[in-house]
Amino acid sequence: MCGIFGCALKEGKAAPLIHSSLKRLEYRGYDSVGIATISDGKIFVKKDSGKIDEVDKIVNLDDMPGSIGIGHTRWATHGAPLKVNSHPHADCTGEIVVVHNGIIENFMELKNELQNLDHTFVSKTDTEVIPHLIEQVLKENPNLTLVDAVIATLKRLEGSYALAIISTKEPDKIICARNESPLVLGINRKGVFCASDIPAFLPVTNKAVMINNGELVILTAQDYEIRKIQDSSLVTREPITIEWTAEMAVKQGYPHFMIKEIHEQPETLRNTLRMQEHYLELMSTFLDRANEVFLVACGTSYHACLAASYMFSKLAFLPTYPVYASEFIEQHGKSVSIDSTILAVSQSGETADTIAAVTCAQQRAATILSLTNVIGSSLTRISRVYIGTQAGPEIGVAATKTFTSQLSVMAQLALRLAKKRGKVSQDEIDSLEANLEKLPEIADTIVKTQEEKVKKIAKKYKDSKVFFFLGRGISTATAFEGRLKLMEIAYIPSIAFPAGESKHGPISLVEDGFPVVFVCPKDDCHKTLVGNIMEMKARGAQIIAIIEEGDMDIKSLADEFIEVPKGIPGVLSPIPYVLPLQLLAYYVALEKGFNPDMPRNLAKCVTVK
Ligand code: AGP
Repeated sequence: MCGIFGCALKEGKAAPLIHSSLKRLEYRGYDSVGIATISDGKIFVKKDSGKIDEVDKIVNLDDMPGSIGIGHTRWATHGAPLKVNSHPHADCTGEIVVVHNGIIENFMELKNELQNLDHTFVSKTDTEVIPHLIEQVLKENPNLTLVDAVIATLKRLEGSYALAIISTKEPDKIICARNESPLVLGINRKGVFCASDIPAFLPVTNKAVMINNGELVILTAQDYEIRKIQDSSLVTREPITIEWTAEMAVKQGYPHFMIKEIHEQPETLRNTLRMQEHYLELMSTFLDRANEVFLVACGTSYHACLAASYMFSKLAFLPTYPVYASEFIEQHGKSVSIDSTILAVSQSGETADTIAAVTCAQQRAATILSLTNVIGSSLTRISRVYIGTQAGPEIGVAATKTFTSQLSVMAQLALRLAKKRGKVSQDEIDSLEANLEKLPEIADTIVKTQEEKVKKIAKKYKDSKVFFFLGRGISTATAFEGRLKLMEIAYIPSIAFPAGESKHGPISLVEDGFPVVFVCPKDDCHKTLVGNIMEMKARGAQIIAIIEEGDMDIKSLADEFIEVPKGIPGVLSPIPYVLPLQLLAYYVALEKGFNPDMPRNLAKCVTVK
């Protein structure tokens, strides 16, 4: 997730407004920043890796001529956070520059095509193909307008984008376009603005025009014109008035980052499905050839590893060993060797326990692989191969969207391994891949249809002194994650373990009214889980079940139930089934008057051991 901004002013310098607007988009990404302006038929560019304030100290972002310009604050997805990969990106001539938020899925194919036409690329980004493509279209059709060249280019792109483009060929305009990544215009008497999000221009105007997928905008200091990319037909759309405060706007109107990020999961899951083939192939090759694989992480990331161990086993017959990073050195430090492979998982890529475990393994010649949400983090720098989970910055201390993105990448790796190892039928692989593609919509349905019900359950059980979270099979990982969420933001002591373990001790705790959350997808464990529910119910427990829509067996036993759409294979179930548990933790915390974004005693990134 990155932030783009563009402005066309009737007079005055664009750079200071672009700079301040990018600061307000910093929550969307902050590993690099850049601005381009046009003045007297020339394009000026200032950009570098680093936070906006750091880069500004070096290059003085405000000191750029011209009343038209574009800017970008980056969250690296393709290419490390280096100056050469920061936006804006230019064509060979430097006369066309682009800023982009999104993922161009077919960029390698386009890049090869353009390189064969002697275009020179300087970055590792997907974005850089866009200015070169526009340049090539104009080279082949010199009489085309810039707008028409951009439209022809957009029709070649596959994937998501919010773009802003300027060129010396038509220096009085900015062309922007949207497909899936958000784009909105701002208007006031001084000019017209385009941005990834409303906070960028809210201090200068609350008049906004929302841009839809498949639309292109021609923006000048005087006006804006919206067209459909498909057929260039004109679209009329009047500005609306935004009632948000600036603080609300950064959270897009949500009261907390956590609930905003829970609601973002359909979008982040869509982005995570746009993994680069190359990295998935490379990592799955390492895993396929590994003698022993440890999945190493902390907290929520450990729960992703626990779920992944079921995925790798069930789909690829690959045994993997989830290990708490803080225990790894004690548990395996002596035995790990050149024959070991470590797949470390860390959304921040900076967790001290995880870095220490990986460093120990690396010193013993193990192969280091990693999943992280922060490209350029310490973990990426010590990994042989890493994959970015592309969930965008996660501001809430409680991990939510990064967890489901980690699970999605793990599922994609397990499926790729399944193909390599031929352990499951092609039909089953096709079905699983189809279901994986459906998960963004399923996540959207759950949030839209079940949130109100979760609020009621939260209100009913907010004063409970303790919760159980139980599951069987892969749902054990989902139960563990639900427990951590409730503990860390609602401060309710919660216990999670495989449901089959209840009778080996924990069931002694159960008494009348004791809330027990069961995670019960319709998988191979469903039948046994019904028995576990009955044994809890027999002792007076209150049963809160996360079930497949219409599961009458469990509905008849549960005191409360949350329904997840039908047909999700058990091996993918943690991704949708965790959403009700994230919502439950959030609403219980609200009921108890706590701030879910800043839970006591916790930090977003634990850089101490
Ligand atoms: C999860 O909600 C917590 N914020 C915490 O357990 C977190 O998952 C853990 O500290 C690991 O963080 P990482 O993924 O950045 O390594």
